[in-house]
Amino acid sequence: MITVDTLREMKARSEKIACLTAYDYPMARLLDESGIEIILVGDSAANVYAGEKTTLPITMEEMLYHTRIVARAVKNALVIADMPFLSFQVSPSETISNAGRFLKAGASGVKVEGCRPIADSIQKLVDLGIPVMGHLGLTPQSVHQLGGYKLQGKDEKAAARMIEDARFLEQMGCFAIVLEKIPARLGQSITKTLTIPTIGIGAGSDCDGQILVLNDLLGLFEDFTPKFVKKYAELGRTIRTAVSQYRSEVKDGKFPDPEHSFE
Ligand code: KIV
Repeated sequence: MITVDTLREMKARSEKIACLTAYDYPMARLLDESGIEIILVGDSAANVYAGEKTTLPITMEEMLYHTRIVARAVKNALVIADMPFLSFQVSPSETISNAGRFLKAGASGVKVEGCRPIADSIQKLVDLGIPVMGHLGLTPQSVHQLGGYKLQGKDEKAAARMIEDARFLEQMGCFAIVLEKIPARLGQSITKTLTIPTIGIGAGSDCDGQILVLNDLLGLFEDFTPKFVKKYAELGRTIRTAVSQYRSEVKDGKFPDPEHSFE
């Protein structure tokens, strides 16, 4: 079973960490069987699963449901639950009880976006033995303040601030940090600076691991495709073909045939 220690050891021996998001039992089972090391129950469920424009509307109850059904499928991977908007920003005590609910639902840790304004909460979680994954760069819960899903850490000052934030997250005891949509050279600098693993999404190839949104990688989310996404399958197309064939066979009276009927 993958633990936070496994990830640190992987970084130490320069073995890359492969991570994906999942939101339901069948997909989580396939990912686990394929050897994925971290399965993130991402709040991207709001976009790719529920059809929302941003991640802001997804609730604790919805994320708990996704976490429970993912965790039920997983035998080996580390399951991390993404804390949704306003579940960790209000106070350390609310953060602790919300994070605790994710662990009770089967997650082995939580991910939170941001750094200094939530430092007290992060520190409390770590001190209480709840593994915390940080998330810097493009933090989608701050989309309105960032003015869109833009590349982050472009200028020297912003890059230096991000390096400091990454160090701070490490000092507080985070076990890994997601770096989203930043220049590859900044991903490399942060990765070199830290002893904990960096997990990149649009942060270049030098990060210790990579993560993608599963529905993007499988071609199941077709509304738009960010530059950092590589599609490894076109399941949207496959599903439309299968469903159209089923529909035609029903209309033509070809399904069900004798093989799929009872005497
Ligand atoms: O919610 C999510 O899927 C994420 C990943 C993009 C890292 O936060």
